[in-house]
Amino acid sequence: VAGDEKELRAPICCILGHVDAGKTKLLDCIRGTNVQGREAGGITQQIGATYLPAENIRDRTSLKAETAIKVPGLLVIDTPGHESFSKMRSRGLSMCDIAVVVVDITKGLEKQTVESLHLLRCHNVSFIVALNKVDRLYGWKECTNAPIVEALKKQSDDVKSEYKWRLTKVVTEFKENGFNTAPYYENNKKKKVVNIVPTSAESGEGVPDLLLLLVRWLPDIITDKLAYDDTIECTVLEVNEHKDLGTTVDVVLINGVLRQGDQVIVCTKQGPVTTIIRDLLTPHPMKELKAKGAYKHHKEVRAAQGVKIVARVSFISIAVPYEHGIHCQTIHCLFVFLQGLQYAMAGTSLIVVKPGDDLRQAEAAAMQEIDMAISTTDENEKGTTTQEVSSIMTCKEGIYVQASSVGTLEAIIAHLKSSSVDIPVYDWNLGPVYKQDVMKASAMLKRKEEYAVILAFDVKVMPEASALAAESGLKIITADTVYRLVNIYTEHIKGLKE
Ligand code: GTP
Ligand code: MG
Ligand code: NA
Repeated sequence: VAGDEKELRAPICCILGHVDAGKTKLLDCIRGTNVQGREAGGITQQIGATYLPAENIRDRTSLKAETAIKVPGLLVIDTPGHESFSKMRSRGLSMCDIAVVVVDITKGLEKQTVESLHLLRCHNVSFIVALNKVDRLYGWKECTNAPIVEALKKQSDDVKSEYKWRLTKVVTEFKENGFNTAPYYENNKKKKVVNIVPTSAESGEGVPDLLLLLVRWLPDIITDKLAYDDTIECTVLEVNEHKDLGTTVDVVLINGVLRQGDQVIVCTKQGPVTTIIRDLLTPHPMKELKAKGAYKHHKEVRAAQGVKIVARVSFISIAVPYEHGIHCQTIHCLFVFLQGLQYAMAGTSLIVVKPGDDLRQAEAAAMQEIDMAISTTDENEKGTTTQEVSSIMTCKEGIYVQASSVGTLEAIIAHLKSSSVDIPVYDWNLGPVYKQDVMKASAMLKRKEEYAVILAFDVKVMPEASALAAESGLKIITADTVYRLVNIYTEHIKGLKE
């Protein structure tokens, strides 16, 4: 890096906003992908991470080749807008440097927009407003991917005046929530007044403006935050059961470098779990980390980046020490470690143990974090709770929930607990439904029949499990959205009562 200019890492940018404001579609427009079109029920149910390299961003803006972009790229975190996913939203925001709040221009500020503003204030994060769906203004003349000022000039007087009053309404609503905002092209107090960028995720107007603000203007106001640092800062985004890779831990690497073979500590509900990074995977640039597509394998990954960590020990590496005469006990311990990983708590730190570091001390730090994660959830939860599980509360009588990731599990449980639904949870698991799960859930057949159910989200139900459930009278419900899953259950209960 030349002169005394500090090396900057990619800013991490969280996309927040109410359901259907167009968060995912806006990202699709930037990436040239169609993630939104393939989402079940058209809703985002999983937090996502996409790396946008500076060159790709340049292609989408009017920046000349010689104009420098100070950051190597942008790591964008997509969040769900639905109410039950509030934990994913706050988790996404807690690891971000900046945010984009997407507002539907035809609707103005909505419930989860206001919730997002509250979060932004708590975390003291700077943000930009994308005032999306301008193409919905009556009579809008499409100007594909044009800068917004240019596109606005081309509109009829009617469109211009509709735009103006809708914009004024949104500015007033922000004011009511304690934020001064202004369209960015008229904003000469950019540090104090929040920028609004009108956009269309459908035809791309304003998208170059949004990208320019993110890579040219924002890094200037948060330069210190973005100074690259070797000290590793890494947060667990999600834990997944992958059909080929086993348990994988998706992380956001905020600072530093992760390497294959690094010894890492993961915070789990059962305590710190120490393991070795076997493989580091990232999606291809401009592609989603959560998409079940092709991954790139890396020996090392530098911040900021969304990374899938494969921690499963291959069969061979378990068999080899055995042949060398290591006790069975050692092998047993290894299995416990691997199983423990699935209880990794999303939102906690991944700690890297460097050669020469004190492992005990590192584990103590992890333990402290676990205690904190648990105590903050304790404060929020009341009722007849008997057991604390990865920030998920369970009861003696209730249904059994199974999901592909911790985040969706939390969302299902949040929805079950909401006042309109109010269904207790007996136990939960991640990954495919096996016979064991059916056996556990079957405990309710004797206690309370209406709870003799497994809600299975985005996971396979093994044939033996289905067979056992059918035999014993346990119902397994599957659906592709959290809301449908719970609706089917409530319909089932009505059926039982009638
Ligand atoms: P959740 O993730 O479920 O909270 O929604 P979201 O904010 O990601 O919104 P999404 O991208 O799913 O878009 C919702 C709907 O609005 C989809 O049908 C999109 O095609 C549509 N949409 C999004 N942006 C625009 C836009 O700029 N113009 C128009 N006309 N439609 C849009
Ligand atoms: Mg979405
Ligand atoms: Na949506």
